[in-house]
Order: sequence, then C-alpha cells, then structure tokens
Amino acid sequence: MKPAVVVVGSFVQDLTWRCAEFPATGETVVGTFVTGPGGKGSNQAVAAARAGAATGFVGAVGRDEFALAAKKFHRAENIAARLVEKPALATGTAAILVNRRGQNQIIVALGANAALTPRDVPAALLRGARVVVCQHETNLAVNAHVFRLARAAGATTVLNPAPMRADFDPAVLAHTDVLIPNENEFVALVASLRATGRMKIIAHSLAALAPAALHSLCRALNVPTVIVTLGERGCFVSERERFTSLPAHRVKVVDTTGAGDAFIGGFAAGLVKFAGDVVAAACFGNSVAALSVTKFGTAPSMPAKKEIAAFLRRPA
Ligand code: RIB
Repeated sequence: MKPAVVVVGSFVQDLTWRCAEFPATGETVVGTFVTGPGGKGSNQAVAAARAGAATGFVGAVGRDEFALAAKKFHRAENIAARLVEKPALATGTAAILVNRRGQNQIIVALGANAALTPRDVPAALLRGARVVVCQHETNLAVNAHVFRLARAAGATTVLNPAPMRADFDPAVLAHTDVLIPNENEFVALVASLRATGRMKIIAHSLAALAPAALHSLCRALNVPTVIVTLGERGCFVSERERFTSLPAHRVKVVDTTGAGDAFIGGFAAGLVKFAGDVVAAACFGNSVAALSVTKFGTAPSMPAKKEIAAFLRRPA
C-alpha cells in the first residue's frame, strides 16, 4: 500500500534514565536506565502508523548496532522506511532524564541525521503521499526541498519546528500548510520574524493571552494553519478565518517524553482519516498524545488504533 503519511526526519536511539529528581549542577543521583527507539521523526511515524495510517519514513543512520535495531523496529511497526546509511557518522543518540513527575530533559546528538540530503528523499514517495511531515532534527535544507515537491504533488505539508534552531530559515514557512510548534518554539518563531518585531511575548505569558490575541500572533506567521501545543492546557488551532481551543484530556501522567510527537503523528493520521479537517485531526492528535503520556518511553508509548478507539468511546 502506498504510504498516505510520509515523515521525513530523525531516527535517534534514546538512552533514558529515570530518577526521582533531576540532578542539580555537580550532583550525582541514582536512577534506572532503559534504551529504545526514538527521534522526533521516527516517533511521529510510529504514532501515525499505530493510529491506522499507511506510513512511510525517510531518515539517515550510521552503520552500527543502533541502525540495525532501527531497521528491525520499523519493519515490526509496518512502516515503509528508507534509512539511508552514512557510514562515517554514528546513528543519532539522545540522553533523556525523566523525573517522578514525568517531566524530561533531553540532549540530542544528531549524528547521521544531520547529513540527510534532498537526494536521499525519493520524489515518488512524496508524490504518492497525502500528508508529508518534517521536523528540525535533520539537515534543515531538506525540509524546504521536501515541502516544495510534496505541495506541488498536492500533499498537505506539516512542519513541527522542534527543536527550534539558530539556523532556522523562515523561507520554509512559504511551503508549509500546517505549522505545529509548542509554546517555546512558537515564541521563538514569532520573535524570528522581522515583520512581528514589535510583538513582544514570552513563553510564560502565552497562557495569559486572550484567544483572539494568540490567533493574531499565529496569523502573523502567514501559514494557513498554526497549531500551538500547550502541554497540559491542550492545543490552540488557528486557521485563516477561525480559531479553536481544544482542552487536554485528564490522564495519569507517567512520562511526557514524546507527547508532542504523539500529537503530530496522530494529527497526520487524523488528516487522512477526516479528509483534511484540521480541527477533527487535532482532536484525534490530542487523544493520541493523552494516551502516550500514560506509558513510559517515546516510540514504545504510542497507542495502537484499538486503544485510541476505546479511549474515544469512553464515557465523558
Ligand atoms: O520528542 C522526543 C524525542 O526527542 C526523543 O525520542 C529524543 O530522541 C529526541 O529526539
């Protein structure tokens, strides 16, 4: 089956330590360790595939044990993956700390991901897709190239600007249909645009903004749809002519790592399922994200189609 959702992005091996509290500078704490598949791009592809969309993934890896595990993992997840080998580089890795409240701190070493090139991405794969998703854990020049081709072929392009980077070029926004930043990324994006230089906002004040004010900041980014993910406050969907606030579901939080990826993957699958209805897709993404935080880990915590269906059927 041709993938309806294509994610071009990172594969990263997650090295995760759980501890009661994050260590302070110079402090050592005792914790437990686990390793598994991660990377924002791959996590998003897993979320979309488990949510029921035929999904493809393009990324870059080294020639090492982590790359072998990645290939096996994508096969098991039924993802049509093209992992391009960069023999001189290591597969990406992330050091993740998770505390007892499920909060996280992450350092990611991009490794081979940063060497992904436009030529590594098959144009035919993009031409067959309905939704194409990129993030910021690869070579950023690839994103604009991918979006140009995907859009020309009629696909919806979705950019998750995570993590926000100093080398971000706002020109990619001209090829973006749906932009999905979290609060910090949104603030950085608004600040990076000269046209909005006089709009001063800071992340902790975003919660205090009236929805109409947040909507006009979103509109200043000049992308058809902007969805700001707001963690435990849900998400804000800004379309050209309307805006919608969607509250988060109340669940028992175990680990928030990868919740943003769960939302993006769920949203992409939702766009296919609900024929391009962005609010319906965002509601679906919200449920996928809620379920993901109830389990430990990143890719392994993405819910299956059956779990999502049961969650959506539960009494209010
Ligand atoms: O969004 C979570 C992901 O970010 C982790 O899987 C880690 O690999 C980092 O890339």
